[in-house]
Amino acid sequence: MPTLLLTGANRGIGLELMKQFTPLGWTIHATCRDPSTATELRQIADRAGGRVTIHRLEATDHGQIETLGKTLSGVPIDILFNNAGVMEAKQRPYADMAGSQTLDTLDWDDWMAVMRINVMAPARMSEVFADHVAKSDRKVIAFVSSIMGSITSTTGTWIHYRSSKTAVNMLMRSMAADLRDRGITTVTIHPGWVRTSMGGPTAAVAPEDSAAGICKVITAVTPAQNGHFLTFDGKELPW
Ligand SMILES: NC(=O)c1ccc[n+]([C@@H]2O[C@H](COP(=O)([O-])OP(=O)(O)OC[C@H]3O[C@@H](n4cnc5c(N)ncnc54)[C@H](OP(=O)(O)O)[C@@H]3O)[C@@H](O)[C@H]2O)c1
Repeated sequence: MPTLLLTGANRGIGLELMKQFTPLGWTIHATCRDPSTATELRQIADRAGGRVTIHRLEATDHGQIETLGKTLSGVPIDILFNNAGVMEAKQRPYADMAGSQTLDTLDWDDWMAVMRINVMAPARMSEVFADHVAKSDRKVIAFVSSIMGSITSTTGTWIHYRSSKTAVNMLMRSMAADLRDRGITTVTIHPGWVRTSMGGPTAAVAPEDSAAGICKVITAVTPAQNGHFLTFDGKELPW
């Protein structure tokens, strides 16, 4: 069966992706920052008969990413799914974030931290695991981006977050060109506006529906979609 490497697997969309992929029989390497508090994730692993391995990973720690690469040395990764991300690094409750990240309220340290988590971390993951992906059958690298990174669609505010997701889209486009010759298909996915800690309680899409859509899209992705910005329900988004 194919193998998935997923970041941010302990809650939100990542946890729902675990619930989608595990019954399909995939082998899963699930990462999270603190496995000791990832109760639901550990329960999924316990029920998966050895197919799910949980790895501790602070995604901004490049040394930890390199160590994980060595731990998984020789393991083909069919889908590297760069999911972990933040709206703001200090991760206040959704209601407290509203209206922030405008030109008047920029928080430079937080913006830098958001870029490290949302852009540099998945870039480093992709660099370290490109060989693992190239050795697999499916050869897919996916990033969770956002419609908030679409320059065409922007409605302002959320400058830290929007700029990080726009950067992820460009990272993906560059990688799509660079890795095409190795047979790797690289895409970004907008998961919808999802009811997680990040999306808040009034978001339009249930986490399980977002994850089900992402799972369908990402397991059916073809080389013809290399470099595309997709939605969880399989549509194309404007840059
Ligand atoms: N929810 C939405 O409406 C929405 C819309 C568009 C895009 N997205 C994107 O979807 C992805 C998942 O978001 P979500 O809604 O599921 O958010 P969430 O519920 O807040 O979960 C975020 C996940 O990222 C992990 N994470 C954060 N910082 C990390 C770090 N430094 N190292 C490792 N892991 C880290 C968190 O781990 P901890 O538990 O350790 O903090 C958690 O597993 C993100 O990339 C987000 O930008 C979400």
